[in-house]
Amino acid sequence: MKVSKLLLGLLLSCAALGASAQTIIKFSHVVAADTPKGKASEFFAKRAAELTHGKVKVEVYPNSALYKDGEEMSSLQMGSVQMLAPSLAKFGPLGVKEFEAFDFPFMFDGTAELHKITQGPVGAALLAKLEPKGIKGLAYWDNGFKSFSANTPLKSVADYKGKKFRIQSSKVLEEEIRSVGGIPQVIAFSEVYQALQTGVVDGTENPISNFYTQKMHEVQKHLTLTNHGYLGYAVIVNKKFWDGLPADVRGQLEQAMKEATVFANKIAQEENDKALDAVRKSGKTEVYTPTNAERMALKKAMAPVHIKMADRVGKDTLQQFYQVTGFDPAKL
Ligand code: LMR
Repeated sequence: MKVSKLLLGLLLSCAALGASAQTIIKFSHVVAADTPKGKASEFFAKRAAELTHGKVKVEVYPNSALYKDGEEMSSLQMGSVQMLAPSLAKFGPLGVKEFEAFDFPFMFDGTAELHKITQGPVGAALLAKLEPKGIKGLAYWDNGFKSFSANTPLKSVADYKGKKFRIQSSKVLEEEIRSVGGIPQVIAFSEVYQALQTGVVDGTENPISNFYTQKMHEVQKHLTLTNHGYLGYAVIVNKKFWDGLPADVRGQLEQAMKEATVFANKIAQEENDKALDAVRKSGKTEVYTPTNAERMALKKAMAPVHIKMADRVGKDTLQQFYQVTGFDPAKL
C-alpha cells in the first residue's frame, strides 16, 4: 500500500513537472483577429505548437485585449508579455527613431521596393538596434499602404486644411499631417473608432484592413485611396526570454516564424483587397480613387517632410532607404 502511494506521488509530480515544462508565449497585438497580423499570429501559434511538439504554447491576444498602444513596449521589456508585433511607426517612444524612416510619405512605390528593405541588410540592421533595449526583432510582417479618410471629401490638398487627423505615435507622421495643413493627434488604436465617432478627430489614415475591421466605415463618410505611406510590423520578443530558451526550441520557433512571415506577406494584399470590397459593399463610405494629378499634388505637398524630418531618423538611415527605393524628394 505504502509503495503504491509512493508510486502515485511520483507519477503525479512527474505529470506536474511535465505540465510546467510547457513554455507559454503571450503574443499581444492591437488589431482584430481577422486582419493580416491577426491571422499571421494565429498561424505562428499553430506552427509553434506543431514544431515544438507542444513544448511551446503561443497565446494570442488580439484587439488590445491584453495591452494597448503605450503599454505594449514597456510590458515587453518587463517580461509581462513575451511577443508583440507593433507597427513600425511605434518605435519612436522607445528611443529607436530610425524605424520612422518607414513612415515617410510616398517613400515606396510598392511592396517589391519595400521588401528590399525589410528582407535585406538595412532591415536587419534596424532590428539589431532594438537589442540594447532588451528586445529582439525576429521578422517584418506586411500590412499595406495607408489611405486617408474623413467625413468630408479629401480630393485636393486644400481639403486636408484645418482637419484633425488621428495618427500613430510617430513624429514623421505628425509632420506629414502638418505638411498639408492638418492637425495631427496621437491616439491609441483601441480608441480610434470612438474618437472618430465623437468628433474628437475628423479623419485618419489606415490600410483598409484596419479601417474595415475596426468598423471605421461606420463613422467615416469618405475614403480616398491615396496609398501615400506604408504600415507594417516588426515582430519582437523579450530578448532575455528568447535567449533563455533551449537552443532546439528556439530553432523550432525560428522556423515557425519564418513560415508565418511568408504567410503574413502572402495574405496581406488579399486581406486589404477583401476589406476594400467590404467597405464598398457596406455603402456607408464613399470610396474615391484620386486622379494622377491629385495624387501628385499630395506627393508634392508632403515632399518637404523628407527634408524637415531627415535628422529625426538620421540622414544615413534615410540615404540607405533612398538608395534602395530610388525616391528623391529633391526631384519633386
Ligand atoms: C495603428 O495604430 O493604426 C496601427 O499601428 C494598428 C496596427 O497594429 O496595425
